[in-house]
Amino acid sequence: MNQRGSIHQYLRQQRDLFGDELYLNKPTTNRPAMIQKDHESLSLESFGESIRECQECPLGKSRTEFVFGVGDPKANLLLVGEAPGEQEDLQGEPFVGRSGKLLDKILKAIGRDRNKDVFIANVIKCRPPSNRDPLPSEVEKCEPYLKKQIGLINPRLIVALGRVAAKTLLKLDVPLKDMRGKIHSYAGTPLRVTYHPAALLRNPGLKQTAWEDFQWIQKYIHGES
Ligand code: URA
Repeated sequence: MNQRGSIHQYLRQQRDLFGDELYLNKPTTNRPAMIQKDHESLSLESFGESIRECQECPLGKSRTEFVFGVGDPKANLLLVGEAPGEQEDLQGEPFVGRSGKLLDKILKAIGRDRNKDVFIANVIKCRPPSNRDPLPSEVEKCEPYLKKQIGLINPRLIVALGRVAAKTLLKLDVPLKDMRGKIHSYAGTPLRVTYHPAALLRNPGLKQTAWEDFQWIQKYIHGES
């Protein structure tokens, strides 16, 4: 039978079965399967390797090191800052300057450290010149990397450190105090906002409030909040 004949025959069979309504098989997309496979096979480390030469935005030219993040690839707590500063750019690791030292102390106080039960990253992976805030065009290029990290780490809670990180992730332009104290959601994961450690260094009066945030965070992770 020629092609035309088989189409007629197919349509006749369909009419016999379903009447005058024509039911077409929706092509199955293989995207979910690909995502699944990706999720299973790609380690956080190999993902980091695959993007460390990134040149998607001009910061790729000016950076010293690409700052992917540091910590436990299966951490239940993900801390997210805004962008690498000078020391981070030189050493290729987030939060290694003065504010990083304070962050390490806070983590120690809740029984964690940067290599244990925590992953630390930034919204953007390369240092903006003179530590200016990341530009929307830079965030647009870099945020998918953070989302991929979240997919691979699968944390129980994300904590945005500081107003810039929080407003960039939540797309909310409000003061930090209006974002604190609530459970938000980012890419399907609960997100909490607290002060950036640099803000605590500038204004030690905020330390007590930040400490309350971290106590809440610790309880939440242990299912007590
Ligand atoms: N501030 C940030 O937001 N991130 C760093 O990695 C360092 C300082």
